[in-house]
Amino acid sequence: MSQPKVTVLHGPNLNLLGAREPEVYGYETLDDVNNALREKARIAGWAINCFQSNHEGELIDAIHAARLDETLAIIINPAAYTHTSVAILDALNAFEGKVIEVHISNVHKRESFRHHSYVSLRADGVIAGLGTQGYQAALKAILAT
Ligand code: DQA
Repeated sequence: MSQPKVTVLHGPNLNLLGAREPEVYGYETLDDVNNALREKARIAGWAINCFQSNHEGELIDAIHAARLDETLAIIINPAAYTHTSVAILDALNAFEGKVIEVHISNVHKRESFRHHSYVSLRADGVIAGLGTQGYQAALKAILAT
C-alpha cells in the first residue's frame, strides 16, 4: 500500500519568513517550518509535499495536483490570497480531502481587511495566531485522522 499523502502550501511572501516583520511572523524560516513538518510526517509514515509560491496560479496548480494524486489533506496558509482569492477557494472546493487553513498571526486582531477569508468557506479547520506552531498543530490533527 502506498503512503498517505499530505500537501503543505504557503502563499505569497512566506518565502521571507524569519526576515519579514518578525514581530508579527517570528524568526523561524520557511525551511525551519517545512523541515519540522517533514520530520513529523516521516515518523508517522506519511509522504509530505511542501510548496511555496508567490503566484496564485501556481498554488491552484498545486491544489489540482494534490487532487489528482489522491493526497488526503492540504494544509494551506494562503497568506494575502486568503482575503482575495475566489480562484483558490474554487480549486479547494474541487479537492475532496481535508483542508486546514493556517495563519501564523491572529488575523482577527489585525486590520479589518484580514478578517474575511474566502478559504474558510471550504476549510475543515482554521488555526490562527499560534505562530509557526500552527502548522504543527494542523499536521498533528491530520496525522490523527
Ligand atoms: C498570514 C496573514 C495574512 O493576512 C497575510 O497577508 C500573510 C500571512 C498569516 O500567516 O498570518 O501574508 O496568512
